[in-house]
Amino acid sequence: MENRPRSVAVIGGTGDLGSGLAWRLARAGYPVVIGSRASEKAVAHAQEMARRGRLEVTGAGNVEAAASADLVIVTVPFASQQATLESIRDVVQGKIVVDTTVPLMPPKVMRVQLPVEGSAARRAQMLLGDEVRVVSAFHNVAAAHLVSEEARLEDCDVLVCGNDTAARDVVVALADAIGFKAWHAGVIDNSAVAEALTSVLIFMNRRYGIAGAGIQITGTPTKEGWGPLQPAGTGPPPGGLAVRRQRRLRPGISSIPDIMACGSRAGVCAPHGCAGGQAVRPPEQDAEPARA
Ligand SMILES: NC(=O)c1ccc[n+]([C@@H]2O[C@H](COP(=O)([O-])OP(=O)(O)OC[C@H]3O[C@@H](n4cnc5c(N)ncnc54)[C@H](OP(=O)(O)O)[C@@H]3O)[C@@H](O)[C@H]2O)c1
Repeated sequence: MENRPRSVAVIGGTGDLGSGLAWRLARAGYPVVIGSRASEKAVAHAQEMARRGRLEVTGAGNVEAAASADLVIVTVPFASQQATLESIRDVVQGKIVVDTTVPLMPPKVMRVQLPVEGSAARRAQMLLGDEVRVVSAFHNVAAAHLVSEEARLEDCDVLVCGNDTAARDVVVALADAIGFKAWHAGVIDNSAVAEALTSVLIFMNRRYGIAGAGIQITGTPTKEGWGPLQPAGTGPPPGGLAVRRQRRLRPGISSIPDIMACGSRAGVCAPHGCAGGQAVRPPEQDAEPARA
């Protein structure tokens, strides 16, 4: 798979988080198939979403949806994570599966209760097997923000964990494409931190009356993320160059797919005919001045 998946399935996509992700992904130009335990429920949900936004969204049973897409996002409650993953296990072999599960155990959802495997994501990796590249993400995103036109998704950071760096790249790019600020956060075991943080955020929502607290990473990256901003082959000028990762559409970039394609670090970028990893706008616009 290139850096950009050709299609995305959202298992449990009739729920709060899944609906929001499906909606945002479809608006970013990804063909989306919503999965449900009941295919007719998924079809109705998808038809409504497609009609509302004139988007490319379809619906199917969970297994059919997972089989049809080359990237699969699982958005079901922790209590049903195991059964859901076992149901799609055969059809996701060789694919990237994005697990969003927070191991919440109602009624004590403001208390961190990680599973014996260490994290829900590690549990997913164990259940699906080593041929599946499990990546965890979106734990610290309130679903309500995904469906709100007023929400500033770029203020909400997403920690992306997984053992396969290339798979993480794909998911970082995916989250970036729908407007978040996504970060590589290390191996799948690190997902425990992102998952545990959600209980902390739920507590803080209650304590401070916040409508969906999220997280932000401070500091300015000085290494490339998924989209290096200087043209390939040119190193930083003498004195160093602080490079901020590209966040949103800028002059010279006509669409999110353009950014995605040129965010690939290797291979051929079809829209621009570059070798991947190249900036699509003049470097002087991309680079920030060196910092003291
Ligand atoms: N909501 C958030 O703001 C948020 C934020 C970050 C992470 N998360 C995590 O994302 C996951 C989904 O959260 P959510 O709030 O979207 O959940 P949800 O709305 O309660 O459920 C999502 C979907 O899961 C399926 N489902 C529900 N119970 C099931 C069961 N017993 N067995 C199999 N499938 C079942 C349902 O789909 P069908 O009936 O159509 O099959 C449902 O629409 C959770 O692990 C949650 O911790 C949520």
